[in-house]
Amino acid sequence: MIRFEHRNLLSNPYLRKAIPGSRLVDFADKVKSARQELQADRKADILGFYDLPEQDTDHITDFVTSLDAKFENMVVLGIGGSALGNKALYNALKTEAGLQRKVYVYDNVDPVYLYEILDEIDLEKTLFNVITKSGSTAETMSGYMIVLDILKRKFPQDYQKRMIITTDKEKGFLRQVVSSEGFSSFVVPDNVGGRFSVLTDVGLLSSAFAGIDINALLRGAARMREISEIRDIIQNPPLLNGLLHFLYMREGKNISVMMPYSNSLYDFADWYRQLWAESLGKRHDVRGREIFAGQTPVKALGTTDQHSQIQLYTQGPNDKVITFLTVENWKHDYVIPNIHPEREELNYLGGKKLSELLNAERLATEYALCQAQRPNANLIFPEISAENLGAAIMMYEIQTVFTGKLLNINPLDQPGVEAGKIATYALMGKSGYDLQRKEIKSYQNQ
Ligand code: PA5
Repeated sequence: MIRFEHRNLLSNPYLRKAIPGSRLVDFADKVKSARQELQADRKADILGFYDLPEQDTDHITDFVTSLDAKFENMVVLGIGGSALGNKALYNALKTEAGLQRKVYVYDNVDPVYLYEILDEIDLEKTLFNVITKSGSTAETMSGYMIVLDILKRKFPQDYQKRMIITTDKEKGFLRQVVSSEGFSSFVVPDNVGGRFSVLTDVGLLSSAFAGIDINALLRGAARMREISEIRDIIQNPPLLNGLLHFLYMREGKNISVMMPYSNSLYDFADWYRQLWAESLGKRHDVRGREIFAGQTPVKALGTTDQHSQIQLYTQGPNDKVITFLTVENWKHDYVIPNIHPEREELNYLGGKKLSELLNAERLATEYALCQAQRPNANLIFPEISAENLGAAIMMYEIQTVFTGKLLNINPLDQPGVEAGKIATYALMGKSGYDLQRKEIKSYQNQ
């Protein structure tokens, strides 16, 4: 099970200027009411992600088992919450779990990127999974139209078997397409928002296809949900980390850096980046007052970014809270051979494992940050496994909605994203958006 080390988020002999432990007591009432609000939201059935560990996954495993063995690749067409979880899980586990089938995620409208994917895969051996909760996002729908056209031309007899639709259970245009074309389809539940949906069909189908143990993911999530019920906040990582990030935001630490010391977990940091940014970045509080809440999430990679970012993190503005992701046991490792025993500048490395060097560098960075009075935390993965990823996903989802309550904002909406979507429709000539199109054109021509 993952472990959360919070000691460098609280003041200690090395970090005298950090938040004192006594501050947690001062906020006990606020924490209590935030927890009660979460309970009320769960009762009102708007936080469906909490209940996902209990879902029945047979429809996913049955579907994957029934697939023709020729299918070696799945290309996900989706964006934001309909894409990032798929990437995070696949890239975390593809080597650690020795996955046999490949998952590609096309989450942009970059023509060269689409060309590269289509050029790399064998179309005959590929399934396309179109994921969009709304069924109307321009990025995803344009990819859907291009790919379906290609499939219809190349496989007129059985193109229906090569495309899967994951969308709302009844709403939206794509649901109609499912009936008219006869595609296999999966559901994004009503009560689970896009960026909280990785443990629904949205992320579980591509995971099961690749060979990830999806029930282990859900077991890990269930365990973390149990931990989040612990009353003592010190023993409760999602709430403790949420409260401490909230307190640091109040002190002007407006940046949250997630820094995995593992390439496999880099996309997990990307998934977190969306969750934290889109959920907490809000202009208004729940009463409609302007507050401009949020904390900018940044991803960095250890050790790579020690040679790019750490100078700034240790000596630049003290405006960040840094979270390391550490892996203890690695599926593959190398011993550095002592091929230059006579050279003092190199022989200290000889005989050591690469993972030992990696984790020593992480600890060294942590120590340097403490010396510079920069708060930091460490989320430890004993190994990168489905169970540990499920737990980490649930931890950050709970932490996010809890922090939203502390900030007094709605962590489930995204009015800023909607505004951009509407402007895109207007610019691309969608009917019903004439007024917005005129406004944007006059802005463009000013
Ligand atoms: O979290 C969210 O709601 C968003 O990031 C959506 O996932 C994203 O905008 C894609 O939306 P949709 O799944 O409707 O295509």
